[in-house]
Order: sequence, then C-alpha cells, then structure tokens
Amino acid sequence: MYVCSCFGITEKQVREHAESGACTPRQIAGACKAGTDCGSCVRRIQALLGRGACPRRETEDTLGPAGVPVVAPVSGPRVAEAA
Ligand code: FES
Repeated sequence: MYVCSCFGITEKQVREHAESGACTPRQIAGACKAGTDCGSCVRRIQALLGRGACPRRETEDTLGPAGVPVVAPVSGPRVAEAA
C-alpha cells in the first residue's frame, strides 16, 4: 500500500528504510523523498515508525533534542588530576 503518493513510496519501502536506520520522518525523506512534496504522508510515516518499524527507535529515544545522547551529568575536573 502506498504511503506517499507523490513519490510512489510504499509502506514496505518505508519499513525497509527504517530497518536500515532511518528512524525519523526526516531521515525517511532523506532516504526516499517521501514527505517532501505535499507533506500529507508525514503522519502516516510517523505512525509506521511509531509501530516499531525502526529497530533503533529505542536508541533514538535516548537522544536529547540536538541528537546528543542523554547521559548522567559528569562532575567537574578532578583536582588531583589537574594539579
Ligand atoms: S504524499 Fe508524500 S509528499 Fe505528498
């Protein structure tokens, strides 16, 4: 079934791109242009990705807003090492 009729992209193709690491609608667009014309398919693409099409989704969810991994805060430089 077509997800993006502007570019003739199917659900299967979106899943394949997701399995290859495209875990956001923007990454899917980068892989196959889906969502870059009228944009009416973006919600469908998001829904597909949200249904577990992307195996890396769990990893992506641990990234902060700038794509930087969310890690525990690190304390300042150790005085013993700095001296
Ligand atoms: S249906 Fe996908 S960009 Fe138009």
